[in-house]
Amino acid sequence: VQGPQRRGLRQRMINKESIKIIQKTEDYIMARKKIIAGNWKMNMTPSEAVELVNTLKPLVVNDEVDVVFCVPAIDIIPAMEAAKGTNINIGAENMYFEEKGAYTGEISPAMLVDAGVKYVIIGHSERREYFAETDETVNKKVLKAFEHELTPIICCGETLTQREQGVTIDFVRQQIKIAFLNVTAEQAATAVIAYEPIWAIGTGKVATTEQAQEVCKAIRDCIAEIYDDATAAAIRIQYGGSVSASNASELFAQADIDGGLVGGASLKPDFGKIVNYK
Ligand code: PGA
Repeated sequence: VQGPQRRGLRQRMINKESIKIIQKTEDYIMARKKIIAGNWKMNMTPSEAVELVNTLKPLVVNDEVDVVFCVPAIDIIPAMEAAKGTNINIGAENMYFEEKGAYTGEISPAMLVDAGVKYVIIGHSERREYFAETDETVNKKVLKAFEHELTPIICCGETLTQREQGVTIDFVRQQIKIAFLNVTAEQAATAVIAYEPIWAIGTGKVATTEQAQEVCKAIRDCIAEIYDDATAAAIRIQYGGSVSASNASELFAQADIDGGLVGGASLKPDFGKIVNYK
C-alpha cells in the first residue's frame, strides 16, 4: 500500500487507537473502586491481632470497597487465618527490595507472596524518618513489589515546614517521579498511592478536604504527565493522616480521593464506620 491510501489506513488505525484509549479511560474512572487500608504500625501481638480481626470482621463488610489490614510481619499469618472467608485482605507494612540472602531481619517479597499477601505499604513517612528510607529505596521496593505481583501502597507527603514554605506540590511530585522510575504504565495503573501529610499523621490534625483533594489531584496530574490519561484515571490515590469516622465521608467524596490509609482508627471498631463511610 502506497501514498494517500497508506495515510488513510494509518489514520484509521490512529482513530481506532484513540477510541480505545478513551474507552479505557472511561472504564477506569467507572471502575475505580475505593480502597480503605488500616496501617496497624507497631501494634498488636499475634494473639491480639487475631482478636482484633475477629472484632472487626463483622464491622468492615462492604463489597463496594477493597478492605486491607496492613499488619506487622509476625501478625500476617495468624491475621490471614482469622480473616479467611471474609472480605478482609491482609497486607504488609514493609518489605525489602532483595530476593533473599544475608539481610538479617528483613522480609522478602516471596515471603509475603507465599503467606498470601497482596498489598504492601512502601515508604511510609515513619520508615523514611526512623529507618532512613529514601525515594531511591522506595523506588527499588516498588519495582520489586511489581516483579512479584504485589500491589504497593506507595506513601508520599510533606512536612509542616514544606507546607508552610509552599513547596508541598513540588515535593510530592518529586517523591512520585522517583518512586515510579522504570515502572511501566500497566504496573502503575494497578498501584495505590497514599498521600499522607506528615503533620497530619497521628496528630488528630486532619488536612482540610480542599488541601487533601488539591494534592491528590496534583498526584494524578503527575501520573498523567509520566504516563498518560488512562493510567492516571486508573491509579488509586488514598488520603492518610488522622482519618476518623467523622471525617471519612467528606474526604472520600472528593473526586481524586479513592479511599484512605488509616493508622490509629484502624485499631478500633471505628474502622468499621470508616469502611462504611457513606
Ligand atoms: P493516623 O496514621 O491515621 O494515625 O494519623 C496514618 C498513617 O500513618 O498511615
